[in-house]
Amino acid sequence: MANRQSGRNEIERLDREYTLGTWTRQRDFDPTQIVDTNGPRIVTADGDSILDFSSQYVCTSLGYDAERVSDAVAEQIRTVPYVNPGWATEPRARLSEKLAEITPGPLKKTFYSTSGTEANEAAFKIARAYTGKHKILSRYRSYHGATAASLSASGDPRRVAQGPEIQPEVPGMVKGPDPYAYGSSLDPDESLEYIDEMLKLEGGTVAAVLVEPLVGSNGVLTPPDDYLPRLQEIAHDHGALLICDEVMTGFGRTGEWFASALYDAEPDIITMAKGLTGSYQPLAATTVTEEIAEYFEDTLLNQGHTFAGHPTACAAGVAAIETYEEEGLVENAREMGQYLKSKLDSLAERHPSVGERRGVGLHQGLELTKSTDERVPFEQREDKVSSTTTVLDEVGARALDNGVYFYTSVNTIVVTPPLTITRDEVDEAVDALDDALRLSDAAMDE
Ligand SMILES: Cc1ncc(COP(=O)(O)O)c(C=O)c1O
Repeated sequence: MANRQSGRNEIERLDREYTLGTWTRQRDFDPTQIVDTNGPRIVTADGDSILDFSSQYVCTSLGYDAERVSDAVAEQIRTVPYVNPGWATEPRARLSEKLAEITPGPLKKTFYSTSGTEANEAAFKIARAYTGKHKILSRYRSYHGATAASLSASGDPRRVAQGPEIQPEVPGMVKGPDPYAYGSSLDPDESLEYIDEMLKLEGGTVAAVLVEPLVGSNGVLTPPDDYLPRLQEIAHDHGALLICDEVMTGFGRTGEWFASALYDAEPDIITMAKGLTGSYQPLAATTVTEEIAEYFEDTLLNQGHTFAGHPTACAAGVAAIETYEEEGLVENAREMGQYLKSKLDSLAERHPSVGERRGVGLHQGLELTKSTDERVPFEQREDKVSSTTTVLDEVGARALDNGVYFYTSVNTIVVTPPLTITRDEVDEAVDALDDALRLSDAAMDE
């Protein structure tokens, strides 16, 4: 259904002619026009309604009917659409207060920007200034954004694909192993010991350890329950801060406001974007502890953006948080997450090509394998930046033909619906996937 039936329409032709597509060879850029949305669905110009089980880039967590947010944006545009960040506005003040309330531990003050990558860039500067050290230790299976320092901190294939002729890597970014029992030669405990050893050998030069509490686009990796608090202890033992990149996992996705809270960790800095406004406006944030904020009372915070704390975006943030609260969406993520997990577990039992289901709440993923007995990926990491069509692409395309959109990444089908999702919609999506997985079952090694 969703694969275009009638060739490109005028908008699709114009779009392709005059827009540079992201993360793609332009030859492969062929977007389908979306003309409407409702609930968790997007509607194409051909009239096909697609159930979005990816929440686009894991960001439309409120679905498309959050009227409180649209109204707040419209009202703010009519009163104070913009002033520079040197002025105070009600939405920014209210949002900052609210973030201090819902973030874990002693996090208190927030620096604003417009995208996840900027939130991380700010976190690096803050951590370096505060600790007086310059290195950032992150992990190989990670994505932290597209700008220079964030991409250098990412282990993602997109960093590897970007040669020094385009963007030399920012110095001082060191990478450690991930807690990935299914796909790594180190078990999660060993990976922590390795990071401890790295921090020792780096000789007190590391300002911060940066992690996604649950890795997202590099394969939906779920750590053991004690991993994050232990990592925090290790970082602090070596005089480094813990930065949790919750750009993807924040705002209820895992059934807690922040995934750090799932594990009782208290990061020194949390970065966030995506779900912060349910993607009704572009807004990102870097929230730090009172102690770190205090340091900047007399030290220059040498960072800022024209659109930092944009009133309209902050108004969307306040209304989005009120929507999560009033509609019980964090609880729904926990409840529907349990249901989704049980349905995905039963898919994993029925389909030999599903090697492992991973995830918490509505942050779920299925890693595929070519072999029943061992992990043999259909898709290599470098396929993420190639034009090759993989079995995962075919599974995704079949599910889309069945009316449901899933994002696939690094040999994993990412299953991250909006937090508004119902049981019936979970059933509909799982049925579509059940059928699509027949393709990967058929493509397994003999
Ligand atoms: C964990 C994580 N951090 C950072 C980013 C970058 O966010 P943005 O694309 O808004 O710059 C992403 C984007 O997918 C992400 O998943």
